[in-house]
Formats: sequence, C-alpha cells, structure tokens
Amino acid sequence: MEKLVSSWNNVQTVPEKHVVGAYATEVKKLAATILELICEGLGLEFGYFGGKLSEIPSMLVNHYPPCPDPSLTFGVSEHCDPNLITILQQESDVLGLQVLRNGEWIGVEPISKAFVVNMGYLHVNHKCSNNKLRSVEHRAVTNSEKARTSFAMFFIPNGDSIVEPAKALADSRNPAIFKSFQYKEFITHFINRTGGIDVALEPFKLQA
Ligand code: OGA
Ligand code: NI
Repeated sequence: MEKLVSSWNNVQTVPEKHVVGAYATEVKKLAATILELICEGLGLEFGYFGGKLSEIPSMLVNHYPPCPDPSLTFGVSEHCDPNLITILQQESDVLGLQVLRNGEWIGVEPISKAFVVNMGYLHVNHKCSNNKLRSVEHRAVTNSEKARTSFAMFFIPNGDSIVEPAKALADSRNPAIFKSFQYKEFITHFINRTGGIDVALEPFKLQA
C-alpha cells in the first residue's frame, strides 16, 4: 500500500494523502478478509482470490450534486462492477444507491459506519465461483435537494491474470460455463460492448 500512496506524489488533487492511504490500507484488509471467508464458504483453497486476482486496489470518489429533476438523469446508470469485489462507503444520509432485486429497484439505506459490499461481476459471479455467487446490478439516482458523495474501493485483477472457472467448483453436474481468459481481454470487451452487461462475457462462453 505504501507503493500506492507514493504513486500519488504527483497528484495534487489528493489533499490528505495519509488519511486516504490509511483508509485504503484498512479497506484492503477488510476486502482480503471477506474474500477469505468467501473461499471458506465456497470450499475453495485458502488464498484463491488473493494475489493477482485482487492485485489492483483502485479508489473512486463519486460526487453527485443535487439535480432539480432526478427523473431526468441517473448519477450512475445500471451496471455491475467489472472486478472482483467492491467496498463502498456511503458517506452521508442521502439515499442514492439502488440494487435490482426480482426486477425491482430497491434503495440501499446508508447505515452509519457500515460498508456496502458488492460482488464483482466477473470473477465471483460467473467465473471463479462457477455461478455460485451473484453480482448485483446497481445504479445511483440523484436527489433534488442534497448532494451525495460515496467512496468506492474496487479490487481489480492484474491485466495478465488468468480468469478461469474454479476447478474445485466445477463437476459433471455443474460444468464450467466460460472458458479461461486473461482479465485484459475481458475488460476490453466490457468497455467496448454495445449491449447489456452479459454481452461482455458472450465471447468467452463455452458451447453447451
Ligand atoms: C460505482 C457505484 C454507486 C454509488 O462507483 O461503481 O456503483 O452509490 N457507485 O455511488
Ligand atoms: Ni458500481
């Protein structure tokens, strides 16, 4: 993590680098613990998601100014995070984040001192866990009166890392759904896709 903070030396827009660095360090520990517990829960070997698959921590601060007519725009439109796991902090008491459940958008109320944990679309969802865990589709709506800020820490695979179905989870009744690929191949498809989220994995689907 020191490497991360020192890489900000030329970044003038991060005023409290030590605070951000300390926060990022703790969130990284939290993400590692959650990933280990997921491994244990799924029956994967210890450290399966560690290393290259969650190598790149990346922080995004989202700021949504008030919008006089929230029906006209989203803060962030519907998506799944294309990474391994995201830890989100909703700083204020302003509602904005929504998740899709059974076809309905549900508001995720900010809870003081609590994080929102999003399973990333790629690994945990369709590949590494062979569909055992699902990534939730989410979006952020705007508020007509109050501004809202959220802090997202994404844990992203190294571009060269190989994404493959967890062998321990695939068997004759639950065969692998996608072929192995490098993360950078997927992310290129994800960014350049012209359709919905699932289009990004289409090229990697194994024939049924
Ligand atoms: C994101 C995201 C939601 C929010 O940054 O990927 O989904 O509540 N943010 O800001
Ligand atoms: Ni997101």
